[in-house]
Amino acid sequence: MKGAPPSRLKQLLVSIAPLLCVFFLKPTFVEIAPDESDEVPLIILEPSVCSALDNGAVTLEGKIAANELDLAMGKYGFARVSYPKPDSLSHLLTAAESFFSSPQEFRDQYTFGDYGNDKGGYTSVGVESVNPKSGVKDHVQNYVFRDDLQFDHHAPTLASPGVAYFKEMSSLTKCLNSLSSVALDLPLDHFNDVTFPSLPDDKNGLALRITNYEPVSGIRYGEHTDYQMFTILYTGEEEGLQVKLPNGEFSDVTFGDGFVVNAGDFWAGITKGRWRSVTHRVKGGGARITVPFFTGPRGSWKVNVDGEEVTAGEWLNRRLTKSNE
Ligand SMILES: [Fe+2]
Repeated sequence: MKGAPPSRLKQLLVSIAPLLCVFFLKPTFVEIAPDESDEVPLIILEPSVCSALDNGAVTLEGKIAANELDLAMGKYGFARVSYPKPDSLSHLLTAAESFFSSPQEFRDQYTFGDYGNDKGGYTSVGVESVNPKSGVKDHVQNYVFRDDLQFDHHAPTLASPGVAYFKEMSSLTKCLNSLSSVALDLPLDHFNDVTFPSLPDDKNGLALRITNYEPVSGIRYGEHTDYQMFTILYTGEEEGLQVKLPNGEFSDVTFGDGFVVNAGDFWAGITKGRWRSVTHRVKGGGARITVPFFTGPRGSWKVNVDGEEVTAGEWLNRRLTKSNE
């Protein structure tokens, strides 16, 4: 049975209700819920795409990957990148476990200066503070290779897989740089010219780090953004890395099947904010080794920071020096 037809007054009230709300009701503030659709982006990067880019060819798959990279770096500042892990990685991890569990005096032989020095090497627990404002030292020890041409002084067990892995990551860097050039509509070699030197006395902007986190609770590695271009991180299978999503919340990101790639401060500057330099940190847990590979401009590349023109090498050294304070 149908109800009685609404009266003319009721019909009128219904039709003008929105206007009454606008003119007579006080505004109400609704809390916006976090964006539940935030998911860590995944980019499938086939080695064939990288081989083609090496030969100056941008395939359809290459264009798709470049577009996905642009979207991921623009919205999140990071992505999971599915790409084959080199055999040298497992050798490096095995050597690293052995090195970090060796006597402290043995490890200290390979300390060549403060964290960030030109020769790389070992930095013990209690030295680094990636977020100096926190006044807290990070619960971490690490070993760094700064330049692929200078490996002779390093711990021999680490140097052999380290050289191999450095080369593999240099190739992946070239591929990601080329994809970035495609994404940003620049000549294909543009960002590889930024990263890789053409003169022998210049330095590339690459560094391989093996990071060994202490088994502690709380935050083990402070909140920060990375200094340079891409960080290509092997996270292992265990949780630890937390990245800040666009909704402001930290989210666990682990990707044992490939790499987590994030954009650093240079990308945010170079793209004038089109890409985000993502804030991240490492939470507490069991003992854990991760392997970040840092990419960035070659040492002589000129950058403008707050109106001051400096070389990328000088600027990086300033940031690294602060992390020892
Ligand atoms: Fe970082």
